[in-house]
Amino acid sequence: MSLRTDASNQGNKPFFCRPTLSVPRLPGTLSATAAIMLAGLRARCLPGPDFVGAKRDVPDRREWLVERRAAVKEDYTRDAPTYDAGYEPVTAVHRRFVARLIETCPDGGMVLDAACGTGPYLGMVLDAGRHVVGTDQSTGMLAQARAKHPGARHEQVGLQELEFDREFDAAMCIDAMEHVPPEDWPLVLANLRRALRPGGHLYLTVEEVDRRDLDRAFKEATVAGLPAIHGEHVGAETGGYHYYPDREQVRRWLAAEGFEPVDEADEWFDDYGYHHVLVRAPDRLTLVGAPTATTVDIRENDPRRTAGRVSHSRMERAVAPPPGYPHGVARDVQDEVGLLPVPAF
Ligand SMILES: C[S@@+](CC[C@H](N)C(=O)[O-])C[C@H]1O[C@@H](n2cnc3c(N)ncnc32)[C@H](O)[C@@H]1O
Repeated sequence: MSLRTDASNQGNKPFFCRPTLSVPRLPGTLSATAAIMLAGLRARCLPGPDFVGAKRDVPDRREWLVERRAAVKEDYTRDAPTYDAGYEPVTAVHRRFVARLIETCPDGGMVLDAACGTGPYLGMVLDAGRHVVGTDQSTGMLAQARAKHPGARHEQVGLQELEFDREFDAAMCIDAMEHVPPEDWPLVLANLRRALRPGGHLYLTVEEVDRRDLDRAFKEATVAGLPAIHGEHVGAETGGYHYYPDREQVRRWLAAEGFEPVDEADEWFDDYGYHHVLVRAPDRLTLVGAPTATTVDIRENDPRRTAGRVSHSRMERAVAPPPGYPHGVARDVQDEVGLLPVPAF
C-alpha cells in the first residue's frame, strides 16, 4: 500500500490509516473490499497487502488476529520512511489534550507515549521539561522517532506487551487503539494503568466512523468468510486491521480499570472522527473476589511487595477467590493462575 494523503481529509492523515469504507460499488455487486477479500479466499494463496484471510476454511479467530496484527506491523514499518511526508497528524485538539496531559506531570516527570509512531508528540513533552519514553511495535516507526528525538527513550514493544509498573506520571496512546482488537482492549488498558503511578492521567483517542459503514464492512467480512465481528474492518486502506468500539463499551472498559473521566472532546473529518478522552487512574485500588470490598492505599502500603497480594479495581468482575487468597486477588495474579475469564465484549 502506498502512502498517500487524501485531499478531502484536510491532508492530515495518511490514506492507509483512514477508515475509508465507502468503496466504489456497482448496483447489485460486491463492494471493492468484499471483492478483494473473496478473490483472496478463492486464490487460497498469495499473501499481499490487499490479501485478507488466506485460508481454506473460515480462519480461526485467534490465528486471524495474529495475522492481522502482523500485517499492521509490516505495513507501518514499510511506510515509515515516508510516513511524515506531507502528513500532519497533530490537530488542535490533539495538541490541547497533550498540553493538558503534560501539565498534570511534575517538572522532570515521566511520560509514556505508547504507540508513538514517528513521535509527533515527543518534542512537546521534552520541550516542557519532562522525560518521555516512546514505545511502538514497529521498528520502522520507532527508527523515525529516534532520529527526530534522540533526547527521548525509545522501546520497541507492543501495547499488549507493555510491562511498565508505576513508572509514569502520565501516559498517552494517540491514534493507535483502532488497531487493537476487542479481546485485547482490557489487556492494553490494564497495561497502561499499571504503567501509571496512582492518580496518573491517561490520554487516548478512539477513532470512530459511521455505524452504517461498519454494518456494511461486517456484512462484507461475513460474506468473505472471515471471523470478524461487528466494528472490525480489514479493508485495503486500514493498514491491515481497524476496530471501532462504541463509546459505551470504551467507557465500561476504562471504568473496569478504575479510570475516572476527566475530559473528552470530539473531532470529525469527512468520514471519520476521533473521540479524545482524558482519564485519571485510581489512587486506591480495590481487591476483587473478596466477600466485602477492601481497599488498599498503594501509595502508603504496596500490597504487591508486602503481602504478596495484588489489588485491583475490577469489582464488577468478581471471581471466586482462589485457594490461599481469601481476600481475593487482582487480575494480574488471576492471569498467572489462569482464573481470568475471557473478557466479554
Ligand atoms: C496512526 S499511527 C499513530 C502514531 C502516533 N501516536 C501519532 O499520533 O502520530 C499508529 C501507530 O500505532 C502503532 N501500533 C499499532 N498497533 C500497535 C500495537 N498493538 N502495539 C504497539 N504499537 C502499535 C503503529 O506501529 C503506528 O506507529
